[in-house]
Amino acid sequence: MCAAGEACDVAFSLAGENDFQQVLNICGRDAFDGIDYMEVFFHRWLQEPGRLVFVGRIRDRVVALESVLQVDGGQTVVVQGLRVVPDLRGRGIAGAIQRHVVAYVRQHYPEVRVVRLTRGQAPTPETLTKYRVIAKEAIFSLCCEAVHLAAFVAELRSRLALEGGSSSSSSSPDGPLTLSQQQAEALVLTQHVVSNLLPGQTIISNWEPLKPLEANLEVLRRRGLTWIVDRENQPAALSLGTPPHAIARRHDALHVNINIFGRRLASVCAVFLAQLEALLPSLSGYLVFYVFVDPEVWSGLRRFCENDANVSFFKDYWEDCVLEMDV
Ligand SMILES: CC(C)(COP(=O)(O)OP(=O)(O)OC[C@H]1O[C@@H](n2cnc3c(N)ncnc32)[C@H](O)[C@@H]1OP(=O)(O)O)[C@@H](O)C(=O)NCCC(=O)NCCS
Repeated sequence: MCAAGEACDVAFSLAGENDFQQVLNICGRDAFDGIDYMEVFFHRWLQEPGRLVFVGRIRDRVVALESVLQVDGGQTVVVQGLRVVPDLRGRGIAGAIQRHVVAYVRQHYPEVRVVRLTRGQAPTPETLTKYRVIAKEAIFSLCCEAVHLAAFVAELRSRLALEGGSSSSSSSPDGPLTLSQQQAEALVLTQHVVSNLLPGQTIISNWEPLKPLEANLEVLRRRGLTWIVDRENQPAALSLGTPPHAIARRHDALHVNINIFGRRLASVCAVFLAQLEALLPSLSGYLVFYVFVDPEVWSGLRRFCENDANVSFFKDYWEDCVLEMDV
């Protein structure tokens, strides 16, 4: 026997489009500072090959969600989107849906060896008994009205030139370079990038950690990323920009994630600026940028972005951890 609303009352099943409204209600508009991706991603996830989306229900009410995506040629699942309704938190429901999902994967996908996920809190000693830490990224975040972005970009461009980094635009042969899909796919699997740039030898885009394997290129292709490096040969920084997506924070708000791999500050600043320049023509309304970087360059990037152009820092320093456990 368990009291009403406990984890043992929850029935798990695969989610469907009919669950959309209730899935939105799980976290509400304020979740994750109003930048939750679920409203946009839920539909995509239901359609995505290799992805399963699970919900937990108590009677007819959707009370929890979690999704898994099979990656690394089938050997790994990336877990994303864990959520429990606020009024039933702290009763073991997150633990229960996670155990259900892992049991389902074990039964239906016996080739899966590893579960991988990203968490926004430092792992507790208890977490570390279950998971190993693969990589860390520090998040630098900015927000602004799109009308102020051009002045911000101009200010950063002159600062970069003064500080000795390249101020060339992304079309220059000497400066940051936007890669074609083919160039990006060849580069990201090179020994140089894997050993020197990728955190924990992991490609992370939009909270999705993938091993640099040929089999994952198809997953990356689906994401419509903008790949920019600081230079063509032996780059010191590689960046992945996600297409902007709508968020609940304001009716016209867009969110952009940019992952930057590399520890040379001037190169990180140069590719960040090139990503903004590439986005500039397509952006309008209110913008929130999350820039994922090596913790070593976070404060340098923040200094670089101090500005008179009405672009504000959104949140202070925090880190995401990529964790793995064997199934
Ligand atoms: C984090 C959250 C899902 C925890 O839900 P909960 O039902 O209160 O959690 P429980 O009572 O089951 O206790 C914690 C369990 O969740 C796990 N957990 C806690 N935070 C987690 C996180 N960020 N990601 C994954 N698992 C988490 C713990 O490992 C623990 O599992 P265990 O029982 O197997 O040890 C819930 O607070 C929530 O929905 N928050 C808002 C959304 C969010 O932050 N999601 C997580 C990252 S996407």
